[in-house]
Amino acid sequence: MKRDFLRLLDLSPSEIDKIIKRTSLLKKNRGKTEKKLPLKNKTTALIFEKSSTRTRVSFEVGVYELGGKSIFLSPRDLQMGRGEPIKDTARVLSRYVHLIVYRCFEHSKLEELAKYSSCPVINGLSDLTHPVQVLSDLFTIYEHFGDYKKLNISWVGDGNNMANAWIEAHLVLGFNLTLACPKKYYPDKELLKRAMKNKNFRITEDPKEAVKSSDVINTDVWISMGDEEEAEERKRAFKGYQINRDLLKLADKNAIVLHCLPAYRGQEITDEIIEDKKSVIFTQAENRLHTQKALMEFLVK
Ligand code: CP
Ligand code: NVA
Repeated sequence: MKRDFLRLLDLSPSEIDKIIKRTSLLKKNRGKTEKKLPLKNKTTALIFEKSSTRTRVSFEVGVYELGGKSIFLSPRDLQMGRGEPIKDTARVLSRYVHLIVYRCFEHSKLEELAKYSSCPVINGLSDLTHPVQVLSDLFTIYEHFGDYKKLNISWVGDGNNMANAWIEAHLVLGFNLTLACPKKYYPDKELLKRAMKNKNFRITEDPKEAVKSSDVINTDVWISMGDEEEAEERKRAFKGYQINRDLLKLADKNAIVLHCLPAYRGQEITDEIIEDKKSVIFTQAENRLHTQKALMEFLVK
């Protein structure tokens, strides 16, 4: 049976552990010739309906380093952009390629692609969730603290695809998770309903409360791709949800700051904090490459 990775919920705790341990090894051994290249003679299609720097480049480089070839496709290149059904595109593409990475708006399109593809499909970001990012962030946390299950993790800002991915990671792994979001921008209702049953999950409208004693502080843009029309309204609603020096004082003294990038300095996070030694943001970006190599190896048999 082929395996897809559309959400963190698709993996078990032991599978996440296995991928994270393998990531450590791949990172350490980067550049050393592997005897067996898992993507040799295999092709990966990357279908991106939204812009991307990290996801696109880290996947393309990762595929290359695993011995494979990648083909980047925007909707402009595909008949899908002119209305060819996803279920047809899926059946055709998966007869050529061995793996598909898809970045889209509606998560249901990813589900449809995965349903009709005979090869594994990876979510490269949807409006619902961004699992490759949070899988990689778990590795970054593991690399820094030597653990990712017993820490206090907090989220400040929009209840968007990244926040949803963190809730999914919490549901699978059970770490302590606290979110601070304005009520109007709370995360996905279904996920929230499930997480609220856990004693170590909290959601508040108060960023100060959320970061108190936190080991890992996460944030993301206030205006995600697709939210541009709401820009002004959102900037008003998220005032007070900025990661800055004052807020960071409330966290644990050894806390780290994560941001999946791209960031808007001066909005959700200050320039000072991005450049601070507590920020591991650029290592976090690098780790996308190593984690996705481990993930692809895991999915493509
Ligand atoms: N964090 C992330 O997914 O970045 P890109 O949009 O540049 O891929
Ligand atoms: N929440 C952001 C993440 C970008 C990587 C977006 O969806 O635009």
